[in-house]
Amino acid sequence: MSSKTVDDFLDRVRQSAQDGTLVRLNLGASIQPDGIRNVFIRPVRLKDAPVLSFVYRHPTRDVTKNFPYDEAIDLLRDLLGQQFLNGFLSTTTGTAQLTFRKGRQTRMLLGKPEVDEVPDLAHDRAKPRPVPGHSAWLKELGVTTAEGAVKAGMEAKFRQINRFVEVLQPLLVAAQLDPAAPLHLVDMGCGKAYLTFAAYEHLSKTRTGAVTATGVEVRPGLVEQGRSVAGRCGFAQLKFEAGDIASSRLDSASVVMALHACDTATDEALAKGVQSGAPLILVSPCCHQEVRPQLSVPAPLAGSLRHGIFRERHAEFATDALRALLLEWAGYDTRVFEFISTEHTGKNIMIAAIRRKTPGDTEARARAVSEFAAFHGIVRQRLAERLGFALVGSEAAVSRETPTVS
Ligand SMILES: C[S@@+](CC[C@H](N)C(=O)[O-])C[C@H]1O[C@@H](n2cnc3c(N)ncnc32)[C@H](O)[C@@H]1O
Repeated sequence: MSSKTVDDFLDRVRQSAQDGTLVRLNLGASIQPDGIRNVFIRPVRLKDAPVLSFVYRHPTRDVTKNFPYDEAIDLLRDLLGQQFLNGFLSTTTGTAQLTFRKGRQTRMLLGKPEVDEVPDLAHDRAKPRPVPGHSAWLKELGVTTAEGAVKAGMEAKFRQINRFVEVLQPLLVAAQLDPAAPLHLVDMGCGKAYLTFAAYEHLSKTRTGAVTATGVEVRPGLVEQGRSVAGRCGFAQLKFEAGDIASSRLDSASVVMALHACDTATDEALAKGVQSGAPLILVSPCCHQEVRPQLSVPAPLAGSLRHGIFRERHAEFATDALRALLLEWAGYDTRVFEFISTEHTGKNIMIAAIRRKTPGDTEARARAVSEFAAFHGIVRQRLAERLGFALVGSEAAVSRETPTVS
């Protein structure tokens, strides 16, 4: 699309790129909601030439392409007003907002500069990751090469590891775990222990108090592997125990975590965390088998729940929501959030439980558990059993057995 206003906007883009004042250019208000949502453009200096780097944001992924200035301006001319109805240019001398509106003249609004400095033009400007690729354990576990580069096929695992550490840090603060005090972390169902190693290394580097960690895993081969990697990396305070979560002994811990431990193994880990009084418990559940067959299907949902995927999500929701309510009853504040994008795994919910200083209204919380369970027809649930919460026969359960529909 060409018009005097668009030409003026593109001249500003070209000029600011050439004189080194361009900070960013964003294209938004896509007219194809299922296609590319935005394009984020910034100047980048490659080996010999300056280019404009375009990050195309698709619903589930980003694609980056670099273009010399002239090519970039031609491309922008095709995109503006055709695919995107907004263009926002930020330079160190001012901003320009280009807006296309149906049946109205294209408008450009000028504004004051957002920033007075151009960011670093280096090509790889990605934010520093908390877990560096050169960590010895990452190489030992086959995530990175001897040079510290992420191996092909391990990118998602590397992102997950880093994301986990990013998520952990503020939760430690929320749980008021004094950085100078000793910290003991237990990872239940640690598997190959990517996250155990990540947490141990990060905590050891960032805290002044002594850090100890234990990975509990039912598969002896993985336990042996964890021990030998920890030995080779000199992680003297990282131990591994072979055994079942349910029968593992846990007297005290600062952080109890269980990520993607199967089905009720998550409940066993949660119960251990609660019973040991851990200030912070973190779980990312997977496979929700126990509750699924018990779920009652209210008539208005029957049509929808004939689809397997909805039944699965319904079971996930009911199980994890009940877990969160039980934790709240047991003296914890809970946060439930997506841990990593669904691009990596569908099992991406994290429940973080932070021990409260005061118990709060336990009766109201018990009622919330009973009513939720009764509404969904859940009469048996492992965490409830382990915490001694009787789901069956509660008053709410009885009164909900014969719901009246008005
Ligand atoms: C899907 S893997 C996840 C590993 C790791 N937590 C992670 O997120 O990378 C689940 C691990 O939990 C272990 N596991 C499952 N149930 C367990 C139980 N009851 N006791 C101990 N380990 C268990 C499995 O053997 C497996 O290694």
